[in-house]
Amino acid sequence: MLNILLVGSGGREHAMAWKIKQSPKVNQLFIAPGNAGTAEFGENIAVGATDFEALKKVVLEKAINLVVVGPEVPLVEGLHDFFLADEELKSIRVVGPQKAGALLEGSKDFSKEFMARHQIPTAKYQTVTADTLEQGLAFLKTMQAPYVLKADGLAAGKGVLIIDNLPEAEASLKTMLDGQFGQASSKVVIEEFLSGVELSVFAITDGKDYQILPEAKDYKRIGEGDTGLNTGGMGAISPVPFADDAFMQKIEERIIKPTVEGLQKDNIPYNGFIFFGLINCGGEPYVIEYNVRMGDPETEAVMLRIKSDFVALLEAAADGTMAEQSIEIDERAAVTVMLVSGGYPGDYENGKVMSGFDQVENSLLFHAGTKQAGQEVVTAGGRVLAVSSYGANRQEALAQSYANAEKISFEGKYYRKDLGFDL
Ligand code: AMP
Ligand code: GLY
Repeated sequence: MLNILLVGSGGREHAMAWKIKQSPKVNQLFIAPGNAGTAEFGENIAVGATDFEALKKVVLEKAINLVVVGPEVPLVEGLHDFFLADEELKSIRVVGPQKAGALLEGSKDFSKEFMARHQIPTAKYQTVTADTLEQGLAFLKTMQAPYVLKADGLAAGKGVLIIDNLPEAEASLKTMLDGQFGQASSKVVIEEFLSGVELSVFAITDGKDYQILPEAKDYKRIGEGDTGLNTGGMGAISPVPFADDAFMQKIEERIIKPTVEGLQKDNIPYNGFIFFGLINCGGEPYVIEYNVRMGDPETEAVMLRIKSDFVALLEAAADGTMAEQSIEIDERAAVTVMLVSGGYPGDYENGKVMSGFDQVENSLLFHAGTKQAGQEVVTAGGRVLAVSSYGANRQEALAQSYANAEKISFEGKYYRKDLGFDL
């Protein structure tokens, strides 16, 4: 029996906690720091995801056997490496790549070079620093609008600019290199704009073999019809209708396999999730970005469709036994609708009292930004609550989530009512 420590505090971690807790392999589950929802499936421990020393204490005190890392920041900062370098921790299994592998998400320049080296389809690009600004400006002139500029490093989802005209793109390139996103934009990747419909594909791997999890489509814009500002994600749908067997086959052969083989060829040890942010350009899949974790809110739909023991997959990733695993997928559709605070992704107020939880039927509620305040649950973030449902198809699943979204109340509640409109 395992004692598991899940690191993170969002809707993704609540959904993972729900799934982990169903496994007969689990003795105790701890979540650091967790949220008001995760407390339903385990014990929250008030330790931040990047406080490595404090996490060490938790692991030793609670006799943890398996650490599962939800968000990217601790991985990019080297949580797994920290465990391997510590005498008392090095035998504890960690699901999530070491620093070298986490660079797939932590550095856009690294990931573009990786894809070029392994012939993985992606947009044409050039990387620019302050020293090579002139070449960067010259490269921009060879491209067509819209122009895509990406901060090399992690920028909390804000580091990608898509700009309509050349003079603005030139100005933005300079501003980024001047420190618009701090150290993260000391290098900037200029990319060809790819036009198509995006989807999220996930694999869990031990670095040699992998299993493909259910794919999903995420809705990033705040406004209906995909308008307005980018958010962390307003909802997700799985399966994705255009990701049929033939398309998934292309993704596996051209992208997933070469990625895992590329990591091996480059001698980069890797275990955990690979999130392929893809775009369908006229029936051909291209990589927009890699992430080294699961997606949020995709996880709040994807976990519903995994029938297999999720903990067995996590263990196999850590133990290097993924070849012995298989994955059983629920045929039903699963969706998640994100309820957000009024004003998000701009300024919004926290601390709004929430009600209606007990009226919800036939949906799962995954807390994203909530807090227990005495007897009450209050909002504590822009993305507040993911309402996830099954259905015979996505329309039925969406109808279920929307009916329950109505029953939850808090001042300023907003959600998109058009998820799936483009499919
Ligand atoms: P990223 O952080 O790299 O996923 O970029 C954020 C968002 O910007 C993506 O989800 C896309 O919607 C958009 N994007 C990024 N790169 C491109 C590209 N080369 N062409 C078109 N859209 C892009
Ligand atoms: N839903 C997109 C992400 O997790 O980055």
